[in-house]
Amino acid sequence: MKISKVNGYQVLDSRGRPTVAAAITLTDGSVHTAKVPSGASTGKHEAKELRDIGTKYADKFYSGLSVQQAVININQKIAPQLVEEQIDLNLVDSKLIELDPSIDHSLLGANATLAVSLAATLAAAYSQNKSVARFFAQEGPLNIPMPMVNILSGGAHANRSMDIQDILIIPTGAKSFTQALSWIVAVREMAAAIGKESGQVTNLIADEGGISLSFASIEKACDFVVVAIEKVGLKVGEQMSLALDVAASQFYDGEKYNLSTMNKSYAPNEFVKYISSLISNQPIISIEDPFAEDDWSSWQQFMQVAPARLQVLGDDLLTTNLQRLEKAIASKSANAILIKPNQNGLVTSTLNVLKQARANNFNCVVSARSGETEDSWLADLATGWSAGQIKVGSTHGSERNAKWNRLLEFEATEESRFTNPFN
Ligand code: PGA
Ligand code: ZN
Repeated sequence: MKISKVNGYQVLDSRGRPTVAAAITLTDGSVHTAKVPSGASTGKHEAKELRDIGTKYADKFYSGLSVQQAVININQKIAPQLVEEQIDLNLVDSKLIELDPSIDHSLLGANATLAVSLAATLAAAYSQNKSVARFFAQEGPLNIPMPMVNILSGGAHANRSMDIQDILIIPTGAKSFTQALSWIVAVREMAAAIGKESGQVTNLIADEGGISLSFASIEKACDFVVVAIEKVGLKVGEQMSLALDVAASQFYDGEKYNLSTMNKSYAPNEFVKYISSLISNQPIISIEDPFAEDDWSSWQQFMQVAPARLQVLGDDLLTTNLQRLEKAIASKSANAILIKPNQNGLVTSTLNVLKQARANNFNCVVSARSGETEDSWLADLATGWSAGQIKVGSTHGSERNAKWNRLLEFEATEESRFTNPFN
């Protein structure tokens, strides 16, 4: 089947900000549309999404955040190169690289390239009469990923009510995704109820659907989530454990880590000690971005003292970028990677990063962004790639639940296996 049309246009994400959609029409008349997500606590080394701010395209009604240049690039530069071509994901991605050979996709915009690359993925799967998950995992049971879900959120997603970005939970004792999700919803509702009882405002929902509450320290916030887990009758550590997304680049000034709600500043070596003690005192099995995106030496120091079973996860550090992953492997700076397609800019090269990570025994967590859309392709990618884990935010907001619901659909309709990388 061939591509007959490629159309880019502007849509809204879950924060009400513009983002890019691309629709590929095939010669049988079918239309395959993908919308790209967008971050707020964005890593410095991510592929560059094009925003119109500061250009003649800037739309003042969208505070200059419009994405018309990326849309124009799809319609005027990318579309003419793809129309009449066979629908083939590798071919589409290689044409996108030819058109924009820059490493960060800054010529066309990573939001333009990813939208087209994803639409090509959807169209290619359709042309083979397959779901995107089955397009990548052709045979055997589907490997449904273990979820990592926000309960408390602060940082850039919730007006800095906590210094760290998220306290999350991982249902390591669940036997199925369906059971895992029910446990997660119970803990989230319990956390909201306890917060309300303690007199805090609990109707402040963070960008990714987590509950935004204030705590005097990170320890107190962890304790709070532990109580919520216990109160729903789950065993902490056995059935449900904690994960943190520290997003430390957000409060590192180049010299010190400044925890403003705790009124404390730590030099990097002190912060390594602080994070180490936090890990030994709390049931934390995964920690994301405990140090800033270019503070490699703290990551290395920490890896030398961290418990072997702890997942040390690079998001802003690695930005789904092959060179940064290779540096982390060589320097033993982390043992797991967040996989965000829009940090990378193409589906095939995102998959290459995941494969390289896996070949080096890194855990992989396929992840959404704080600005999401109602699309559910992320759940298909995480499953089809047998990533092992997925992170989407909370169980609040249809842009989040679209992904969880897709995983429920896989479990209900396909031969599948629930993955547990923490066993
Ligand atoms: P972002 O946050 O999408 O705003 O970057 C998500 C994360 O840090 O994991
Ligand atoms: Zn993160």
